[in-house]
Amino acid sequence: MLSYLTDDFYNWTRKVCRNALLKVLAAGPVPLHIAFVMDGNRRYARMNHKLAQQGHTDGYETLTKMLEVCYYLNIKCVSAYAFSIENFKRDPEEVNALMRLAAEKLEELSQHGSLLDQYGVRLNIVGRKDMLPEDVQVAARQVEDMTRHNSRAILNLCMPYTSRDEMTTAVQSAVRNALKSDPPNLEITEKDIDAEMLTNLAGSPPVDVLIRTSGVKRLSDFMLWQSCEDTQLHFTPTYWPDFGLTEFIPMILDYQRKAWARSSL
Ligand code: FPP
Ligand code: MG
Repeated sequence: MLSYLTDDFYNWTRKVCRNALLKVLAAGPVPLHIAFVMDGNRRYARMNHKLAQQGHTDGYETLTKMLEVCYYLNIKCVSAYAFSIENFKRDPEEVNALMRLAAEKLEELSQHGSLLDQYGVRLNIVGRKDMLPEDVQVAARQVEDMTRHNSRAILNLCMPYTSRDEMTTAVQSAVRNALKSDPPNLEITEKDIDAEMLTNLAGSPPVDVLIRTSGVKRLSDFMLWQSCEDTQLHFTPTYWPDFGLTEFIPMILDYQRKAWARSSL
């Protein structure tokens, strides 16, 4: 009994201290848009003698924790690479498990009282929704509709996504728009293509900070258009399910240091 009380008190104190620290950090400049390449779920699973799908489930838990942190930091937009179009080439059992996880979690998120509901977050599924199984498409539509009017923050869950696919679709839409104008004007500009990018249609600013876990230093076709000249890249050897505040806070401090240095020029 006493040990339960002690555990509860310890967890409560930890949360209070964490939130106080995040409030202090939020008083400085914070990124408008953070993108996560959540890599290393299967290596984490192997290291911990778990099934690959458990690695993805634990990865989802890390995502919800990081979203809460970003919320307290007043970060306007988070994009997370949940499933690449290339991931369809993986073992069908793993793909099915990931799709079941997606359907289950999207359904959970579409309930009133969910994390998104409490925090006023609008969720966008960014990518080729038509490639998802029917039940995931239904759950995706539900959660997008339910959160459409939330304006406190944005979560882009990118699945099935690749930047090259997003850019191709954006160029096609820009050409279609140009042909529709009377007379047709094929002087397509960068701005015209930018306006058709899925993240822009979802109201997201350019990416300020892109973080990739698991020690791999690649962008893997993620947010290539949105990562502009000021995007800060961070690569950490930690597997995504183990990623947390101790690594995230120094990344935010680094962003703040650079933002202050820029403003004093
Ligand atoms: C990359 O690790 C991770 C993925 C392909 C899936 C990421 C998905 C989640 C964290 C859950 C997302 C949430 C929903 C709602 C679906 P990996 O499999 O490439 O691991 P490895 O690099 O160790 O092989
Ligand atoms: Mg990987």
